This record gives sequence, structure tokens and C-alpha cells, in this order.
Amino acid sequence: MIQLATLFAAGLLVIPSANAFWRLRCSQPVLNSRVDPIVNPGKPSSHSHTIVGSNAIGFDTTFDSLRASNCSTCKVKDDKSAYWTPELFYEYKNGSFQAVPHGGMLVYYLQRNGNGETVEAFPDGLRVLAGNPYLRSDPKTPESQAITWNCIDFHGPAQPQTSGFTNTTCPDGLRAQVFFPGCWDGVNLDSPDHKSHMAYPDGVDNGLCPPTHPHHLISIFYEVWFYVNTFNALNDGGRFVLSNGDPTGYGLHGDFMNGWDSGVLSRAVNTCTAQSGVIEDCPVFNNENRFYTDDENNACFAPNPVSGENDDPGAILAHLPGCVAVTDGPANATPADVVPECVPGVAVNGTPLPAGATDAPPPSPTKVSSGSSTPTVPAQLGNQLAVPKPSVSASTYTTDLGAILSLLQGSSTASSSTSSYPTHPTGSCGKDNGSAQGHRRSRMMRRHGSPLSN
Ligand SMILES: *[C@@H]1O[C@H](CO)[C@@H](O)[C@H](O)[C@H]1NC(C)=O
Ligand SMILES: *[C@@H]1O[C@H](CO)[C@@H](O)[C@H](O)[C@H]1NC(C)=O
Ligand SMILES: *[C@@H]1O[C@H](CO)[C@@H](O)[C@H](O)[C@H]1NC(C)=O
Ligand SMILES: *[C@@H]1O[C@H](CO)[C@@H](O)[C@H](O)[C@H]1NC(C)=O
Repeated sequence: MIQLATLFAAGLLVIPSANAFWRLRCSQPVLNSRVDPIVNPGKPSSHSHTIVGSNAIGFDTTFDSLRASNCSTCKVKDDKSAYWTPELFYEYKNGSFQAVPHGGMLVYYLQRNGNGETVEAFPDGLRVLAGNPYLRSDPKTPESQAITWNCIDFHGPAQPQTSGFTNTTCPDGLRAQVFFPGCWDGVNLDSPDHKSHMAYPDGVDNGLCPPTHPHHLISIFYEVWFYVNTFNALNDGGRFVLSNGDPTGYGLHGDFMNGWDSGVLSRAVNTCTAQSGVIEDCPVFNNENRFYTDDENNACFAPNPVSGENDDPGAILAHLPGCVAVTDGPANATPADVVPECVPGVAVNGTPLPAGATDAPPPSPTKVSSGSSTPTVPAQLGNQLAVPKPSVSASTYTTDLGAILSLLQGSSTASSSTSSYPTHPTGSCGKDNGSAQGHRRSRMMRRHGSPLSN
């Protein structure tokens, strides 16, 4: 306390303003697989995820196992969290699927407090979910505003952020965006639906927490790059589909499993005051040598506990991993939407995997269709890949990210299109006031006002 007071008196410690934030760079997936230890602990998840962060990710990941892990694909050594969203596939007109190259993720850590609130660090063991994989239309709830897509074109006019796949012809990639609920009940680290221990503040991405969830934690927002441009040129009548069988984009969702060193995160929350978003401007990380090198990030991988599905990044697949059926909506999908006769992959330990393992909570109680629920498939037959052989080389997955990241750290052009949305809760000017921010920002402000003051 004395030290803090001294620093404060010396003008070295500044209370973070509502505009302060940092962008955590997560260079590449640590794993692409049917893994979701929040929704489906101990077994494969119904659909595949692209996971960045700690290499301790697997069916049985816990806070302790994350903390004990020895690497991450994200930048800060003291952050062994796991961050994930569904995989994105291209569905060819002939019905085959191919994974869309993933360009890495930026996780924004945003100081978003309502008047009188203090931003807090995540409690140890916190797990948070945002979005609903079963949606195939926009319910237009406050929560659904937290899920958006943005078509990225560094050289053209900024495209609007949309709830679904409005425009997937994007020269510099299609960005999946998930804003997580920032208000915590102060008691539960998780809940049966994985959601009710958390809530959104009254402005969804800003504002005051409800009295039931009075702890305003640091807000997180994912930007996930998908290089759809690899497929745009094909013009072959195909479409983009999320791994949860969603060709609309409304079923985008995100998961967060806290793996931070709580002392380091608390100090960062209390003292990282930069409004640039540049993580190197945060003294707790930069002055204390808390960054992984790019080589260390790139050398980090988690073993895949599922075999015979999408192991090969460029593979042509006959079905989505887990035999998930594509459902157009507008009605919600259900856990029963699996491809008939489809044989899913197997766990590497030899345990057969059910197709479409049931997620909780399903929108309506429906049984997984028979015939695919209890397969007993020998490992060598459990391969649903039709014609193998990549047409996208594995290296595509990492090549362009360096360029994007260096742009993010300096260049004005790129920073205006890549970092616009979550940086300025009040819409006031600043370094990152790219023109792309307008659409969703102004819609939110009309609906909710702007309860934040600087
Ligand atoms: C992390 O641990 C794994 C398993 O023990 C080991 O194979 C790997 O080399 C370690 N990585 C680093 C960066 O120490
Ligand atoms: C579907 O089309 C893609 C792209 O031309 C091709 O690679 C794949 O082999 C085709 N699938 C089948 C089952 O013919
Ligand atoms: C989609 O975005 C691209 C890139 O900015 C743009 O050139 C194109 O006109 C957009 N298409 C539609 C239908 O909005
Ligand atoms: C942000 O807005 C200010 C004031 O309108 C302007 O001078 C500046 O060029 C803008 N910056 C960007 C990156 O668009």
C-alpha cells in the first residue's frame, strides 16, 4: 500500500480509464479438434474447435492443469488460459468440406467499468461461454449483439459488422468477433448452463453490471481471423459453414477458460493504462520480460485426443468432424442433427466416439438419432476423410499473421480496420477510430446510451 501510494504521488501510477485496453496476440491454434472441456468435460465435444493458448488443452483440462502447462500460443507467459471458437469450413458444391486457414486470434482485454464500478481480474478457475451454437437466425437479444462478423479489406471501404455471414468475399479475411459477458456473480466459477454465473452489462460491451452480478471483471473480446480469401477465388458455388453445422454465422460462439497467474493479471488490470491497445505499452508485461518469443509461441502444440477426423489441416472431408449435419435454419439446430450412416473418428486411446455428443443445454430435449449413437468402430475404419491430400498447405495457417500483427502495432491503415470496434466505448476520438466502428457502435449507443464517462 505504501509503495502504491508512493508511486501514485510520484505520478507513476494512473488509474486505468474506461478506454484503456491491451490486445493479446495469439499467433496460431494450439489445437483443432473436438475438444471443449467446459461443455463436454472428459469426452469429445459435438463439434470441432479452433483453440489458442495453453498446450494443456484436452478433454480433462482444469485450472490447475492449465497453470502447470509449459507453453502457450498467446504472447504473455503468465497467461495459460485457453480461448476457443468453432472451426470454419468451406463446403464445396459437391458437399465436401475443407478447413479454412485460421490466421490467429487477438484477445482484447478491455477496462470497461460502469460509473462507480472497479474493474477486477478473473478469479482462479473461471470459465465463460458466449453465444449459442444452435442459433440459425438472429434472436436480436442484447446477448446476440455480442456475436458479430466483419469482412476485412485493408484497401477498400470498411465493411459493416453483421450478425451473420452477410459478406464472405473478403480480400484480407473474414473476422469472427465474440464479446464475452463481463459481469460475475462473485460466487460461481461455472454454472450448469455455463452462462448464468455471468451476465452482460447494460450496454452489452460496456455499462453497468446488474445487481445479481455486481463484479465487473476485465472484459474480453475475441477477433479470430479466417483466410476465406483462399476460397473466394474459386467461385464454385460453395459456401462457408461453421463446425457446428452452421451456414448462417449466427451460431458463432466462444469459450474462455482462465489460466492466468492471478497476481500478474491483477497488476496488469490495475496498472495497464495505455489506450493504444499495444501490449508492449503495458509495463507489467514489457518491463518484466513476460513475453514469449514468436518462436516459442510457434513451437507450442497440444496433442490431438481425437483421431481420424480433421488431423490434416488441408484435408478434404466427406463430413464435418463428429458427423455434424449442416442445418440452414431459421429454426434452431438440435443435437440430433447428425449425418445418417456417418462414422465419426475415434479417441486416440481407442474409445469409440459418439457422433454429435450432446451439448448442454440443448434447445429442446431430443435424442441423438439411433444408428450413430453407439458406434463400435475399429480404429482403422473410423476415418471419415474421403479423398485425402491437402490443397491448402499447412504453412498457410501461420504465414500472414506476422504481417497483420506488425500492421497492428504501428501502421495507421491497418489499425483502423483491425482494431476499431471495441476500443472506444464512448465513441470519442482516439488513435483507433477507424471508420469500421460506426455501424455497430452507433446502434448500441442508440439502444443503450453510453453510460461510461472517461
Ligand atoms: C512441454 O512439456 C512437454 C511434455 O512434457 C514437452 O514435450 C515439451 O518439450 C515442453 N515444452 C517446452 C517449451 O518446455
Ligand atoms: C469436391 O470438390 C473438391 C474441389 O474441387 C475436390 O477436391 C473433392 O475431391 C470433391 N469431392 C468429391 C467427393 O468428389
Ligand atoms: C464485400 O466486401 C468486399 C471487400 O470490402 C467488397 O469489395 C464487396 O463489395 C462486398 N460485397 C458486398 C455484397 O457487400
Ligand atoms: C481519428 O479521428 C481524428 C479526429 O477526427 C483524426 O484526426 C484521425 O486521423 C483519425 N484517425 C484514424 C486512424 O482514422
